[in-house]
This record gives sequence, structure tokens and C-alpha cells, in this order.
Amino acid sequence: MTRIGILTGGGDCPGLNACIRAVVRKGVTTYDLGVIGFRDGYKGVLDGSVMELTGESARGILHRGGTILGTSRVDPFRVEGGIDLVKENLASYRIEGLVVIGGEGTIGTAAKLSAEGVNVVGVPKTIDNDLAATDYTFGFDTAVQIATDAIDRLHTTAESHNRVMVLEVMGRHAGWIALYSGLAGGADVILIPEQPFDIGEVCEHLRHRHSTGHRFSIVVVAEGSLPKEGSMGVPDYDRDQFGRPRLGGISNVIADEINHRTGYSTRVTILGHVQRGGTPTAADRVLATRYGVGAVDLAAEGRWGRMVSLRGNAIVDCPLDEAVGELKTVPKDLYEVAEVFFG
Ligand code: F6P
Repeated sequence: MTRIGILTGGGDCPGLNACIRAVVRKGVTTYDLGVIGFRDGYKGVLDGSVMELTGESARGILHRGGTILGTSRVDPFRVEGGIDLVKENLASYRIEGLVVIGGEGTIGTAAKLSAEGVNVVGVPKTIDNDLAATDYTFGFDTAVQIATDAIDRLHTTAESHNRVMVLEVMGRHAGWIALYSGLAGGADVILIPEQPFDIGEVCEHLRHRHSTGHRFSIVVVAEGSLPKEGSMGVPDYDRDQFGRPRLGGISNVIADEINHRTGYSTRVTILGHVQRGGTPTAADRVLATRYGVGAVDLAAEGRWGRMVSLRGNAIVDCPLDEAVGELKTVPKDLYEVAEVFFG
């Protein structure tokens, strides 16, 4: 029996289990494949930590958030002898190729593994929606819905207290969640990493709004937003094991500035990992399922080195390299749509 491996890497997101289920169901029933799950992303490939996935073990997980396989940000290219170990372990489990479900970092590693001769198929996921070569990643729709629900809730309490509510959402390099939830929730200002902001202009929008009969405002901020040079300070972020700033908290500085400059009562909500938890939306379940089916088709056909992707409403595939060349950021014309509603 031909065997394939599967892993989930990077930050988790809703829809991972739906994708795993699809790979296993079609792999087992249509192609008679054995499917081996590696625990905790690439870490499981290095450690040889596995679980066999059968129709039975992949049952009842479609609607569940998280990942039954676990995840990590371990990268075999940062481990001494890591690539040889990956090759040895895949050979010892008689695994023909790997289905790798991940975002920018995990798919980037998959592309490098593919260049080293490892058979890999990629599946794009991340709440950030910033992976190139696909219109959407799964997890994004759920995160946007959670953030939109939060904005709806903040509206009613903001209105009662005549407050400015600053909501911080995830989005390290790209402001997709902030932009979509801000548009859907009727935010009065949206700040994203792609458009450095001037805190003076933000306060002007709020003053204008409050001078035209509105007594409250909602400001949605992507965690990776940056002020224009010199217009405001930024938090002193800790670093993670890869030296990346551990984001979170820019909204506290923004809220202090707003309060100081306008005198409006201001409160902060940092949504954090709530955006990555819980059940996936129907749209994410469907997208993750379609990706899973597409990925196992590629594996069964031996079309390694490719990633499934969404183009319009079609599932297509592209070389892994194409997905990791550059990040997919929010285009200016879309931000201009949001700006219509500022102030
Ligand atoms: O990449 C997804 C993401 O949720 C980012 O939006 C966020 O900056 C980061 O992961 C948080 O990562 P961690 O899981 O290390 O808290």
C-alpha cells in the first residue's frame, strides 16, 4: 500500500481538521492510501512522532477547531542535520510524500524541502490570509467573523458610554482581518500594516465624527500597524525563538494618544488568540475540504512540489515557490474603500 504523510505547521487556525479529514477520507477510500499523521508539524517528522490516520480516526472532526495533529513552528532547516533526518524518517515509514498544511513559514519550508528532493504537496492556511498565489486561505473567514462579532458587541457598549473603542486584531504584515472586519462591522477608522498611520489624522477623524452628532467611535487596529516615522511611539516587543517581535499591544499606545489628544474616554480590547480558536465557519469548512481533496489528488497523481490554491471559485494548483515569493498584502484601492467610512 502506498503511504503518504500529513502535518499541520505554524499557528493553528479553524479548518485544519476539516482539511485533514478530507485528505484521509479521499486518500483511503478513493486511492487506497495509507495516511500517517506527524505530530506537531515538522517536529514530528524529526522526532518520528506519528499517528496512523484511518477513516475511523478522522471521523467527527469536521467542525472542530485546532488540529488533531498538533502544530509547532519547528523548522528542519534550523536543526543541525535536520534535512537528512527528515529524509531518513520518511524512508523508514515508507512514506512516498508529505501533505503539508501551513502558512508562509511552513509552506516556505515545504518549498525548500521540495528543492532538496522531498516529495511535498502544500495546502494554504492562515487566519492572516497573506499567502501569495491563492485568493484565500482557510481560517481567515472564521477570524473575520469573530472580529466582526466583537465589533458588533463593542458598538453597543461604546454607544452607552460615549466611548472610543480600540479593537486590536491579528495581522503581522497584512491587515486583511482588520480591513474585512472593520468594513463588515462599520469601523470609523481602520489601521493596517500596509498603510503607516499618523495619530494626529486618526484623532482628526474622531473629532470630526464626534462633532457631527456621533458620540462614540470604533477604531480597528491590526497588531502589525505602524505609526508614520516620529508621529507616535511603539511598544517594546519581546522576541520569539526566531527573533520575530511578539506583537500585541500597539492599541494601548494608540488609545492613550487618542485619550490624551482628544479627551474622549477610550478603552482597548485585544482579541488575540480568540480569533484562532473554536469552530470554523461553514465557508472555511468548505474551503478546507476542497483543498484537502485537491491535495490528495495531487499526491495520488505524483504531482509533487505543488500547492493547491483558490482562484476565483476554482481549486487549482501552482508551484510551491510561487506561494512564498512575496506576501499578499491589502491593496491600496481596497483600503480606499474603507477610508470612505472614516470619521
Ligand atoms: O500567523 C498567524 C498569527 O496568528 C499571526 O496573526 C500572529 O501574529 C501570530 O500568528 C501569533 O503567533 P503565536 O501563535 O506565536 O502567538
